[in-house]
Parts: sequence; structure tokens; C-alpha cells
Amino acid sequence: MRLKGKIAVVTGAGRGIGEAIARKFLQEGATVVICDALKARVEEAAGRLAAFGTVQSFAVDVTNREDVQAMIDETVRIFGRIDILANNAGIARFEPFLEIEDKNWNDTLAVNLTGTFICSQIAARVMAKQKSGAIVNMASTNGILGEEALAHYNASKAGIVLLGKTMAIELAPYGIRVNSICPGSIQTDLALEGGQPAEELEQYFAKIPLKRRGSTEEVANAFAFLASDEASFITGTELVVDGGQICHE
Ligand SMILES: NC(=O)c1ccc[n+]([C@@H]2O[C@H](COP(=O)([O-])OP(=O)(O)OC[C@H]3O[C@@H](n4cnc5c(N)ncnc54)[C@H](O)[C@@H]3O)[C@@H](O)[C@H]2O)c1
Repeated sequence: MRLKGKIAVVTGAGRGIGEAIARKFLQEGATVVICDALKARVEEAAGRLAAFGTVQSFAVDVTNREDVQAMIDETVRIFGRIDILANNAGIARFEPFLEIEDKNWNDTLAVNLTGTFICSQIAARVMAKQKSGAIVNMASTNGILGEEALAHYNASKAGIVLLGKTMAIELAPYGIRVNSICPGSIQTDLALEGGQPAEELEQYFAKIPLKRRGSTEEVANAFAFLASDEASFITGTELVVDGGQICHE
């Protein structure tokens, strides 16, 4: 029960890694507010998560400042505070650099990077008044090393890593820690929807020292650690959860 009594907000928690993070936080004793851009998806997730503890759901697009503000205001009204923000919402499109359309570039940067900025700024204003808080951002190994056909995604995730470091410096005086998680290949619907051919994926896994994809739970475990007081002297860093993938030259 490492998060006992904590109030946590998890974005993009309607499925996949976000739902696993919410479940892990609940199992560790937190009260969890989840949001997702898709109303039916977040409501269904809240139904599944209710078995693990107190969950409140909101249909919120993280790029919409007014809606994010309303969710944070409502969270404070109901639960009194915000101890943890997990910025998980994200999208990915596989497109060769020469063919990336402006819309896909802008959408990817808007959800992944600007969404993280908006949610963090609004939640951090609450945490600053409390003089405590932990923000954990979803980056990726793609925020550290390049991968073809994902220039917009990679740029957004690299941006998240540096946004996190800067927030860590500026928010430390308020008792707020900020870190990023960099997962490698994780088995989720997003990964399946990415459109990579099965043969390409096989070659990809062969290069991972642990020879497999990670699970959503393995990423959620890392979020729980960085969100918890066990990580009280850790801020401004990245935790790579990739089976050793980026150890290679
Ligand atoms: N799956 C992987 O291999 C992998 C690896 C590294 C990092 N990540 C990152 O983990 C995060 C979650 O990925 P996933 O694989 O669980 O994806 P997913 O598509 O299964 O889940 C993402 C959720 O975010 C929601 N979402 C999308 N845009 C949103 C918006 N504007 N506002 C609110 N919610 C929004 C989606 O509706 C969806 O429910 C993403 O940030 C992704 O980049 C995934």
C-alpha cells in the first residue's frame, strides 16, 4: 500500500497502459481519477477499475485546457487535493518522414507534448499550494533514440523528457517531483494499431536482450514507484522500462 491515502490523476486511462497504471495505483491504496478523450471507453474502464477501489472518471481531451481545468477543479472539490499526476495519454502514427502530413504532426505534438504541459501546469498549481506532489510523465525509449517512421512521435517524447527535467528544476522548491518513464515495446492496442507488419515485429523483438515485449503491468509498476514516497530523492530523471533494448549500440 505504497500510495495509501494519495489522490492520483491518470490521463488516457480508458485502456492500455493508462488503465494498468490506474489499477496499480488503486492496488497501492490511492484514490484514482481517470480521464480519456473517449467517453464510453473511460466509463467502461471505470467500471472495471471499481473492483480495486475508489475511481472517478472524466471524459476529457488533454489538449483542451478548459476541460482539464474543470477536471482538476472537480477533483479538488471532491477529494480535497492532488498528490499524483500520471501523464499517460498519447497517440502514435507510423509514417515515413517524407510523407508526414501537417495534421498528423500537429495532432501528435498536441496530445503527447502539449497535453502533458497543460495537465502538468494545472495540476502543479494545486500541488504548489499543497507544497507536495509527484508528476510522472509517459515518455518512451523513442524519446531517447530515433526510430524510423515515427519522427513526430519521437520528437514529442523527447520533448516530454526535457519538459520533465525543466519542470523538476522549477517545481522542486514547491516539493513537487517530476520524472519520466521510457517504455520500450509494450503489448497494447496502440502497438497493434501501429500498423507494423508481423515479420518486422519479430525482427524487432529478436534485438531485445530479454527477447519479449513488456506488459502494461511492468510499466505501471515503474509509475507506482516514481509516484511513491520511496522515490523521494528522485526527480528530473528517466526510468527506462525496455527489457534492455537500448543497451545496444
Ligand atoms: N504501447 C507501447 O509500446 C508504448 C511504448 C512506449 C510508450 N507508450 C506510451 O504509453 C502511453 C499509452 O499507450 P498505450 O499503448 O496504452 O495506448 P492506447 O492507445 O492503448 O491508450 C491510450 C489512451 O489514451 C487516450 N487518448 C488519446 N488521445 C487522448 C487525448 N487527447 N486526451 C485524453 N486521452 C487520450 C486513448 O483514447 C486511449 O484510451 C502513450 O503515451 C504511448 O505513447 C506506449
